[in-house]
Amino acid sequence: MAGAGRPERSARPALAVVGATGAVGTVLLQILSQRADVWGEIRLLASARSAGRKLAVRGEETEVMALGEEAFDGIDVALFDVPGEVAAEWAPVAAAQGVVVIDNSGAFRMDPEVPLVVPEVNPHAVRMRPRGIVANPNCTTLSMIVALGALHAEFGLRELVVSSYQAVSGAGRAGVETLRRQLSLVAGTELGTGPGDVRRAVGDDTGPFPEPVALNVVPWAGSLREDGWSSEEMEVRDESRKILGLPRLPVAVTCVRVPVITAHSLTVHARFEGEVTVEAAREILATAPGVVLCDDPAAGEFPTPADVVGTDPTWVGRVRRALDDPTALELFVCGDNLRKGAALNTAQIAELVAAEFN
Ligand SMILES: NC(=O)c1ccc[n+]([C@@H]2O[C@H](COP(=O)([O-])OP(=O)(O)OC[C@H]3O[C@@H](n4cnc5c(N)ncnc54)[C@H](OP(=O)(O)O)[C@@H]3O)[C@@H](O)[C@H]2O)c1
Repeated sequence: MAGAGRPERSARPALAVVGATGAVGTVLLQILSQRADVWGEIRLLASARSAGRKLAVRGEETEVMALGEEAFDGIDVALFDVPGEVAAEWAPVAAAQGVVVIDNSGAFRMDPEVPLVVPEVNPHAVRMRPRGIVANPNCTTLSMIVALGALHAEFGLRELVVSSYQAVSGAGRAGVETLRRQLSLVAGTELGTGPGDVRRAVGDDTGPFPEPVALNVVPWAGSLREDGWSSEEMEVRDESRKILGLPRLPVAVTCVRVPVITAHSLTVHARFEGEVTVEAAREILATAPGVVLCDDPAAGEFPTPADVVGTDPTWVGRVRRALDDPTALELFVCGDNLRKGAALNTAQIAELVAAEFN
């Protein structure tokens, strides 16, 4: 897959991280420092605002360069962690130079010529990339899809009904800054006892959210789509179908923002081809790569964002057979939206590509 001017196939591929200063980019640099090092040069790119800043990766202070055409000279693989419009403009520029792009934004996910890859579920798809671009799923989809992929492989998925409880870091640095600011304004107050009192206290600047997120639950993520759906909800449906190879899978989704810094949670109602047992489901989840079963409610054991933040796996608890349907399961799923939900999955995809250089 290497283009003209690429290193000899025995050389380690050179990697660019585009958006190295952002919420996902920051976690990606930590992950690159923790995982087996398969890379030659690692080049850090961001906007011109950040050029000259120094960030640590693999224990070395590395200067950030401004994104531009020359920024991809000698690069083999580029991880894009930038807003969708920036990715839409620059990923094709890098790909035209023979760079394999792995993009974290929504710009290419539903392009039929761009594979949408979760290494535990559809690793083979990474090789079919006619545009030289591989897409990384949305963090909400990623927070549940590894567990669902394992259950689907055994039972055959027929329908999904999910609700999300999404952390503010899913909206980037701005989301985190907004919650921290609002928490400082409401801490130690009696707010939350009368309509509108939280909004008055935090002011009109609700950051990337339509309502205050501190002391609140906001049933909205993303932008408005047809018939009252949000973009995030449509992404969860469309991406789940594409990754699982089930183009007509019925999926009902409601996305909700909660005052958690990092780690998304979802309740999942999954209906399968035939009858399922909790015992079989637990065995699959307990042995599936990338999944941890944490399910002992009698002992107070189930995953929560506060416990799973900073970890790599998809955590699953509250596994029950649906009360009125022997073919369906109820689950609670929790995962770090910045790690498996974003940076870790892109690093795993990049490692699949790097293996092609051996
Ligand atoms: N947060 C999540 O949980 C999550 C999960 C999955 C996918 N994603 C996606 O990943 C991408 C990054 O998200 P994020 O949450 O990390 O955003 P973020 O915290 O806002 O960071 C944005 C990054 O993009 C860079 N950037 C912005 N405009 C640029 C430009 N014109 N040229 C070059 N670089 C530019 C910024 O550089 P400066 O610092 O120089 O401005 C920064 O490094 C987005 O597409 C997002 O949808 C996010």
